[in-house]
Amino acid sequence: MDKIMGNRIFMKSEFDREDILSDQEQGLPQPALQKPVAAGAEIIELPKFDEAVFIKTDVYACLKGRRSRRKYKDQQMSLKELSFLLWATQGVDRKMDNNYATFRPVASAGARHPFETYLWIFNVEGLKKGVYRYLALSHQLVFLKEVEGLEEKANDATLGQLFVGKSAVTFVWSCVPYRGEWRYNITSHKAMLLDAGHICQNLYIACEAVGSGTCAIAAYDQKLCDALIDVDGTDEYTVYLAPVAKY
Ligand SMILES: Cc1cc2nc3c(=O)[nH]c(=O)nc-3n(C[C@H](O)[C@H](O)[C@H](O)COP(=O)(O)O)c2cc1C
Repeated sequence: MDKIMGNRIFMKSEFDREDILSDQEQGLPQPALQKPVAAGAEIIELPKFDEAVFIKTDVYACLKGRRSRRKYKDQQMSLKELSFLLWATQGVDRKMDNNYATFRPVASAGARHPFETYLWIFNVEGLKKGVYRYLALSHQLVFLKEVEGLEEKANDATLGQLFVGKSAVTFVWSCVPYRGEWRYNITSHKAMLLDAGHICQNLYIACEAVGSGTCAIAAYDQKLCDALIDVDGTDEYTVYLAPVAKY
């Protein structure tokens, strides 16, 4: 019970931070807006999406139709659809000149956008199966690795939720907590999780617009997910996932 009560405080705004100065307040440099790309990595340009990807453009119809979908067709996703879903969730529309902040289709506390988007790609037009990362600043993908038995490993990493391995692509959002901590210190973690909800809700609505389905996933194995996207689990770790496919 003590543990539960301790965690409840995390949801409130009553943080005792009178004696804490954030790194930003102390004049420390801002962390990078995006993780760097390894030299020589394989970069994939994402195509511009157009009207042709939409089967619904009416906001009411998209909101009314939204449901968590767990039964998927074995059907390929087009690269333009993926391009739209990535833009809708993390795409960068504008960057401030001094690299101070980015503005995207999703809101983020203080425009910190403390996430990276990884993709477990199973069946997307023109892309080999494997693990990728979205480069939001340039709207590209970077190919990270092939994984033998990716479907089974994805299912294990999501505690046996077998629809994950049947998706065309699964979005895996990691958090880089220092991007929020730099400004908001101990109050940042609540805001970062609220931010994550906004991202996934945009994915739900965007999926509805292109005739695909998704399902938010917060039940996952931390170590297995982190290992599949090669993050250290301390300065970057998985916080949320969402498989996407035609249904
Ligand atoms: C934060 C969050 C975590 C969730 N985690 C899972 C999950 O791990 N597995 C799953 O099948 N559904 C998960 N869901 C989906 C919910 O079960 C679903 O939203 C709920 O049953 C209501 O159904 P609806 O989304 O179709 O309205 C999650 C939803 C949210 C918002």
